[in-house]
Amino acid sequence: MRSYLALSSQWTALFVLLSALCCLFTPAVTVKHENFKTCDQSGFCKRNRAYADTAAGASGWSAPYQIAPESLSWDNGQLQGTILKTINKNGETVRLPITISFLESGSARVTVDEEKRQKGEIDLRHNSIARKERYNEVESWAIVGGLELSKTATESRDTTKTTITYGPEGKFEAVITFAPFGVEFKRDAATQIKFNDRGLLNMEHWRPKIDKAEPEKKEGEEAPAADEESTWWDESFGGATDSKPRGPESVALDITFPGYEHVFGIPEHAGPMSLKETRGGSGNYEDPYRLYNSDVFEYITDSPMTLYGNIPFMQAHRKDSTVGVFWLNAAETWIDIVKQKEAHNPLSLGIGSKTDTKTHWISESGLLDVFVFLGPTPKDVTKAYGELTGYTQLPQSFSIAYHQCRWNYNTDEDVKDVDRKMSKHQIPYDVIWLDIEYTDDKQYFTWDPLQFPDPIGMLNHLDKSERKLVAIIDPHIKNKDGYPIVEDLKKKDLAVHNKDGNIYEGWCWPGSSHWVDCFNPAAIKWWVGLFKYDAFKGSLSNLFVWNDMNEPSVFNGPETTMPKDNLHYENWEHRDVHNLNGMTFHNATYQALLERKKGEIRRPFVLTRAFYSGSQRLGAMWTGDNQASWEHLAIGFPMILNNGIAGYPFAGADVGGFFGNPEKDLLTRWYQAGAFYPFFRGHAHIDTRRREPYLAGEPYTEIMTRALRLRYALLPAWYTAFHEASVDGTPIIRPQYFVYPGDEDGFAIDDQFFVGGTGLLAKPVVTEGAESVDIYLADDEIYYDYFDYEKYSGRGLKTIPAPLEKIPLLMQGGHIIPRKDRPRRSSGLMKWDPYTLVIVLGNDGTATGELYVDDGETFDYQSGAYIHRTFEYKDGVLASTNIGTKGKLTDKYLKAMKSVTVERVVVVGAPKGWEGKKTVKVGSGEANLEFHGEEGNKAAWAVVKKPQISIGEDWKIEF
Ligand code: GLC
Repeated sequence: MRSYLALSSQWTALFVLLSALCCLFTPAVTVKHENFKTCDQSGFCKRNRAYADTAAGASGWSAPYQIAPESLSWDNGQLQGTILKTINKNGETVRLPITISFLESGSARVTVDEEKRQKGEIDLRHNSIARKERYNEVESWAIVGGLELSKTATESRDTTKTTITYGPEGKFEAVITFAPFGVEFKRDAATQIKFNDRGLLNMEHWRPKIDKAEPEKKEGEEAPAADEESTWWDESFGGATDSKPRGPESVALDITFPGYEHVFGIPEHAGPMSLKETRGGSGNYEDPYRLYNSDVFEYITDSPMTLYGNIPFMQAHRKDSTVGVFWLNAAETWIDIVKQKEAHNPLSLGIGSKTDTKTHWISESGLLDVFVFLGPTPKDVTKAYGELTGYTQLPQSFSIAYHQCRWNYNTDEDVKDVDRKMSKHQIPYDVIWLDIEYTDDKQYFTWDPLQFPDPIGMLNHLDKSERKLVAIIDPHIKNKDGYPIVEDLKKKDLAVHNKDGNIYEGWCWPGSSHWVDCFNPAAIKWWVGLFKYDAFKGSLSNLFVWNDMNEPSVFNGPETTMPKDNLHYENWEHRDVHNLNGMTFHNATYQALLERKKGEIRRPFVLTRAFYSGSQRLGAMWTGDNQASWEHLAIGFPMILNNGIAGYPFAGADVGGFFGNPEKDLLTRWYQAGAFYPFFRGHAHIDTRRREPYLAGEPYTEIMTRALRLRYALLPAWYTAFHEASVDGTPIIRPQYFVYPGDEDGFAIDDQFFVGGTGLLAKPVVTEGAESVDIYLADDEIYYDYFDYEKYSGRGLKTIPAPLEKIPLLMQGGHIIPRKDRPRRSSGLMKWDPYTLVIVLGNDGTATGELYVDDGETFDYQSGAYIHRTFEYKDGVLASTNIGTKGKLTDKYLKAMKSVTVERVVVVGAPKGWEGKKTVKVGSGEANLEFHGEEGNKAAWAVVKKPQISIGEDWKIEF
């Protein structure tokens, strides 16, 4: 159960009573389904599913949306016109302006609005002061570039359709059919994506509520007649009523991927990476995937239920082809998926697969606004999506090391004690975290005066070993007289309002609270001010921030969040912006940490729980309140992989599981898995026992320490992968399909992955009692066990021994992996340490690799203060070559890095001919070589010792 100890005393008694009562009726560990809507309980979802059923059932049914051909105009890469929606049998229509934009990047965008609402010619019910337009500002939050219109796209129109040729070398085509309206997107003349192929386009236009004595529906009022008016107007759930001042206003569209059997993305859900069908049947879900950021307490695995964050971006994949769609809408959204197997047609053009994936996207309000990416590789799609929404923030280097968290470290002495014990046991960690209890009575920006009398002393203590502190700061501001922050918030009117325009009040950790409205630029400015060192007393530059509960979580709100008819800045309804809300808060904190003291500009580190498209620019996310169970350990990877596919790779799950007490073997396996999470943090609920790695005892502590040291040794490789993600969006841990888009056997694999471009292939153990795992190899390259160089080769499954002390981790031949092998207390202390380069020879006797390094802290890399090199081993020569571009700070940085050397070069799979060889040539000098011959199936290897070469310079080693 969630502990309510953290609530202020006046609520404690009530909550303890309520939670005790709840316990009587529900099992201890399972999600409370009744707190969250099913599609059937969500009016607009139910209506659109019914619409889909009507469309599928009625013979001769045709979609009521047509483009008025005379309305069309083409200008400069953009097609504009009007869709007419026929709304009754008399042929009356509603006008829906449509814009189809073809972008220089090769992406396309279809946007549909509603004319009456654009013009404000509608009446709101209940004297609402909400905005009349369909929400049209998602773009200003999510999109940061890539909107330049194509200069080369061309249009050719006839009476029934218009065809746009666009994209790289004119290989893409959009065929827009007028009646019914539909679009087919083609690449190389083959159809990849179809809009409205099933005729499920539905924009519920504004209409006045007609009060009727009889609940019967008027003849022919809404075509088709599948609507049930009871869900059009006020809607109640769980005792709360949504006033819906604009009535029904959903937008929906079917998007078909012909020939595509797999779809990935649309996080966040606890389920397999390859998304399942959602309309029932054996092994399928009954409900659509839901996107409605929520504090889902004790979530279950293998479910399409919504979770804390959402990214409405999907990739569809088939052999050698990937395409994608991005549904730019911030309202509650549901996505149905069905896969239709078709009788194999041997004449079908180039399509190997026989399955079509048919999706149905349904949002409660807002514009219909969809981007289309035609690939053809997963990397192309991810890159194109990132061009629009931005790439992963290049994080502070400490933040990709290990984080030690729990709810809570109780005092500043407790923090120092854990810190000392980690050092004493030689367990590396970079960051210790403080959960909500550090505050004075849940008032953020304060410290509990009894438990944390000396935060500065604590921060200075941590700084001695380059360690950091992260403190939680949530968006709910305690409503308490005399708390200056809430008084200022109210006075300046910077909080979210209720439907009547008054400041909204709800309950969260502090009890009665208000929510800062980070859609408001003035609120952001105010928030930024709160983090200045002189405002947030007790903070220093090694304090960073954790933003939680920003869905927002409201304990007494509908579905544990805000009422949809609440109002944000400029009177947009919460309904319209709910899924964006978390990102706006994360953004405000990010802005705050950029410059806490004039001139001290640093990369922020802010962890968020709620997220949206674009959150990747701002910091890391984690998968929320998981459980200390093997199922939850296992589900972490598919979730993190899907986040990466959806452009947000800086992701992790609570190591050890948040709820419950993990057995020691589970905890140990979780550390081994966590060492491969891009965001690596141990965390635990306040009711759990302490579980810092040194407490487990042997052999567990030793095994966990080794997993942590492995992470630290590989930090140069991880940082290089983060750099790559920050320039082109390539996921940090990469699923099989991403690396082998042509290998159908790998498409659904979501429990093994590659680390960046290093060729490291990991499959951490996630099942109880496992002694081995089967890793799938997609090619005929040679693979070596990371730890003992055992060789594996040949396509297919290979059994790798995996007793508790072993992480199944292979090195694919052909790669060079940068490492730092000296164990230290924190990554900060490794800054000047020398490198080890591991050359993993491939079948053809060559290998290549990359290294990216910078100061890991400032933005100086943007002025060239970084090292970026490729290493290549070929014909007996290892060479380091610069691939960076020179900037104004390059020389200075290289000078500072001159003393950082390569201390060892390990060659795995060393040629037999090196036996007896004692030296290698390094430039004009020499270094010693040590050769170790093959042992059984373990590869030969060799070590070059102290070659005395600088990491930032060009050099060659001749073997
Ligand atoms: C939420 C968070 C969890 C945190 C707790 C108290 O449940 O998900 O990580 O420990 O709140 O702040």
